Amino acid sequence: MTEEEFFRIYTFLKNRYGIDMSRKKEIMTGRLENYIRTGGFKNYNEYMNEVERDASGKLEKELVNILTTNHTFFMREFEHFDYLRQVVLPYLRQKEAKKHDLCIWSGASSTGEEPYMLAMLLMDFFGLEHTRWDTKVLATDISTEVLRQAVAGVYSREQIAPLPESWKRRFLRASSDGEHFEVTREVKKEVIFRQFNLMEPFPFKRKMHVVFLRNVMIYFDYKTRKELIQKVYDVMEPGGYLFIGRTETLERDAVPFQLIQPSIFRKQEGKM
Ligand SMILES: C[S@@+](CC[C@H](N)C(=O)[O-])C[C@H]1O[C@@H](n2cnc3c(N)ncnc32)[C@H](O)[C@@H]1O
Repeated sequence: MTEEEFFRIYTFLKNRYGIDMSRKKEIMTGRLENYIRTGGFKNYNEYMNEVERDASGKLEKELVNILTTNHTFFMREFEHFDYLRQVVLPYLRQKEAKKHDLCIWSGASSTGEEPYMLAMLLMDFFGLEHTRWDTKVLATDISTEVLRQAVAGVYSREQIAPLPESWKRRFLRASSDGEHFEVTREVKKEVIFRQFNLMEPFPFKRKMHVVFLRNVMIYFDYKTRKELIQKVYDVMEPGGYLFIGRTETLERDAVPFQLIQPSIFRKQEGKM
């Protein structure tokens, strides 16, 4: 990959998806090399010409599927789920006691572990009361490949290992090979998966009570993060909570939220 070709691809990715790979030439080459060769393209420039010419958007989708980093796992940063159970959900149960309505958004949901855990937590927390609540987890990502896997909701024995035994029994069903486990229909019904690019204007009609935006902003530059955080703030309910990755930091002036703990933010009550 020449420097010009590298520049062309990372600029394309950054302009459309906010993802900054300008210092990741090796990773980019490693991920694309095989695809270019087997796809019969002469070089990366010819490939990018095709991506830009392809009106169906199929090649661009594939490019995104190949270049995004989708690593995730059940119980990742479980302290956030503890905080939800102990602080956020009791608060929301009281706040929304009349409307019985609750909306959580997982904005970079990858293969589904994070939003399914949110759904399991909601069902666990509300117990029998759950049927009286209109709870929803909206799960979005730009990669169509991870969304396909998320909708299927099938995970290996190894992948589900970190989940508590009681959750495994209640929320998963073993498949016939005994090595794979599918999330139950009940849990799947709680989660709506959609493809959505965080760089686009937000189309949501409902305001969010909780937003998980974990381990995605590390790929964005300061300006992109700042604009995104403001958009997130605007779609949140007053008193709502934002969770980011525990190893991520947000610059103080980029954040209109109240800082509760490193990686946990809150939109003040009374603010619109
Ligand atoms: C490392 S995963 C994080 C998964 C999960 N939130 C977690 O913390 O385990 C990052 C995800 O962000 C998605 N992503 C990257 N840029 C995005 C964008 N502009 N809009 C929506 N999703 C994006 C990627 O496709 C990837 O699945």
